[in-house]
Amino acid sequence: PPTSDYQAENATVSQGAVEANHTGFTGTGFVNYDNVIGSYVEWSIPAATAGNVSVAIRYANGVANGASVDRPMDVTVNGTLVRSALSFPSTGNWDTWQTVTLTVGLSAGTNRIRAIATTANGGPNVDRLST
Ligand code: GCU
Ligand code: CA
Ligand code: CA
Repeated sequence: PPTSDYQAENATVSQGAVEANHTGFTGTGFVNYDNVIGSYVEWSIPAATAGNVSVAIRYANGVANGASVDRPMDVTVNGTLVRSALSFPSTGNWDTWQTVTLTVGLSAGTNRIRAIATTANGGPNVDRLST
């Protein structure tokens, strides 16, 4: 099936801000997670039928406070934890974007996929989720 893009800046954001002050994003910007545990983006993803789908999260993770560090995130689907502390390694700078891909099980109908920062560094900057 064709790829569908779900922009982070159009998703539900808790403890984060939509920004566009780095280059290379798609859509109209990205979400800058607040640098706290628990900040998140939640997408609403439709599925015609139940089943596993591959999900790609496009992100940037540059240098902060002189350090390049992983910014792991938990992933929940419809409130259930499906990945614990999924790694979002450094991309070198805030203008360089990479994708982390995972397979998740979706239900028929609308699914809520949430990516939640697990460290005090918050999540990376997140551009979009694609299926
Ligand atoms: C910088 C950068 C932000 C990023 C932040 C961070 O301020 O401009 O886009 O989110 O660092 O370290 O989280
Ligand atoms: Ca941030
Ligand atoms: Ca975007």
